[in-house]
Amino acid sequence: MEIGQFWDGERLSIPERLGAAYAAVLDKHGFLNDAKGPRPDEAPVGGVTQEQTDKHFTHAFDGSVARVELILVNPRGETSVSSTLLYQFLAGGSLCLVDVPSGAGAGALTLLASIAELRASEVLPRQPLEVRLLWGEISQPALNYGLELLNKINPVLEEQAIFVSVDSFRWDVLDDVSNVELVQKIAQAKLKFPQVLLLVCNFSGFLERQGKWKAANEGLGLLVRFCSGDMNAGVWIEPDQKAVSKGLFGKLSKLFRELLEFARLVDGDEEGAASSARFACPLGTGRTHRVNARALPFELAIKREKE
Ligand SMILES: C[S@@+](CC[C@H](N)C(=O)[O-])C[C@H]1O[C@@H](n2cnc3c(N)ncnc32)[C@H](O)[C@@H]1O
Repeated sequence: MEIGQFWDGERLSIPERLGAAYAAVLDKHGFLNDAKGPRPDEAPVGGVTQEQTDKHFTHAFDGSVARVELILVNPRGETSVSSTLLYQFLAGGSLCLVDVPSGAGAGALTLLASIAELRASEVLPRQPLEVRLLWGEISQPALNYGLELLNKINPVLEEQAIFVSVDSFRWDVLDDVSNVELVQKIAQAKLKFPQVLLLVCNFSGFLERQGKWKAANEGLGLLVRFCSGDMNAGVWIEPDQKAVSKGLFGKLSKLFRELLEFARLVDGDEEGAASSARFACPLGTGRTHRVNARALPFELAIKREKE
């Protein structure tokens, strides 16, 4: 894959139109100056309130974008399995993209904006890609920011034959009814978009640091089962921390072993693969920030035991 446009050998750059959309939405809400200033010592993990969401959106959104881009662009060849999987699913045709918890949509927006820019510069062919995007998230304000950003970049996506219809809704991974509502939406979307890509980004703060893995286990199991199909897949992307390589990803691998008929690791390595780089601030400060990422790619293909 030609990566020159997002990587100059030293620094990643965020898809230009997504960076511009982010700056415009920050400006509209009066957060642009804060976002250009120093970052809080402890990385914000978001949350249900307007205040938690604003803090996360202002100081962590570009880092989330850069983390997903680092895995996709794969500048040093360290995350090839995840990168190839993502390019394959986004090449064309129709796709149900399940991005949960979406926050302000950094995961899906990064993938779609990157593919659009690679198409615009004729690195990738412009095959029609119809996307049913499902954004589930506990914070309504975060969902609202995501929709604002998507509205801004949608014309750029459509120019590149990427047609997105979105359903964004409140989802609480700890709530049974909410989980059933999520999987009903997935089942419904699969009728027209049978190929599913599950994207989970930056959920380790909640699951590991806040100790919610056990309580979330049932909801996550249901999610995995319903995203599974003929040849579906997922990529889980987190900061490269011990709590992920030795914690979360091990627990996730165990969950896949329990759900053997629905999910399995693509390359067998329970720790996934990691990379790191500096990325250019998309807000015109001239600064760069460090980003690291660890990704775990997995198949979500149904295999009956007797097969
Ligand atoms: C660090 S953010 C990541 C968001 C997005 N995936 C990204 O990469 O920018 C974690 C998200 O988890 C959401 N969250 C927290 N508790 C949740 C819950 N019980 N159910 C679903 N989402 C939750 C937060 O609102 C926040 O948006």
